[in-house]
Amino acid sequence: MKKYFGYSIAGVMAASLLSACSGAANAESAEIVEAKFTSSGAVEIPENWREWIFIGTPLTPNALNGGEAPFPEFHNVYIEPSAYKHFVKTGEWAEGTQIAKELVSVRPNNNAPDGSSQEVSGRGYFQGEFNGLELTVKDNKRFSGEPGGWAYFTFGHQPEPYNQTAEASPTEACNVCHEVGAETDFVFTQFYPVVRAVQE
Ligand code: HEC
Repeated sequence: MKKYFGYSIAGVMAASLLSACSGAANAESAEIVEAKFTSSGAVEIPENWREWIFIGTPLTPNALNGGEAPFPEFHNVYIEPSAYKHFVKTGEWAEGTQIAKELVSVRPNNNAPDGSSQEVSGRGYFQGEFNGLELTVKDNKRFSGEPGGWAYFTFGHQPEPYNQTAEASPTEACNVCHEVGAETDFVFTQFYPVVRAVQE
């Protein structure tokens, strides 16, 4: 018993020495809550993305896109809180960062031809029902083939229930547009006032 105890203390000491020596990269990943993956490499749907940090809601309604917007819904965007904290501290997206984008239909309520409805605060666009979920994950080890290490997933463009797992989308389908158009390491920070407010 005594001996066993002695060994395990030595083990713990060795482990903490090792982690102290392996530097900043480990310290960084230790503080980030990472996505879960199945044994075949699909990502699991996050548990509570609506409790993450809400950063903004771009809207590309059909009425402004010739009736055929690829995503006619509101796009509610959320960052996993530990990754957000890291960004506030460093201005960088840590390895393991997760960002979710949930689509929410424009509320149908005797809509005018431009899709707007009249509500108590005025005529405009109001949120209806959840209609899809996407996720991006930065992981240069797991996704070494993806530019920037960012992989993109969709759990369905449909009302709930969403798919419970998702395979990474092909690079050309998602990553390419983010690489070209997004302002901060593949993330469209130019559209997120909450993020711009904490950026240097
Ligand atoms: C034509 C360009 C384009 C393509 C292709 C594209 N996106 Fe995006 N994506 C955007 C823009 C612009 C935003 C900023 C928010 C918005 O307008 O919805 C965005 C935002 C996001 C976000 C929120 C984080 C961020 O980077 O701002 C996620 C998650 C996301 N897209 C997932 C996907 C997935 C999954 C695919 C492929 C199925 C995809 N995107 C394909 C343009 C694109």
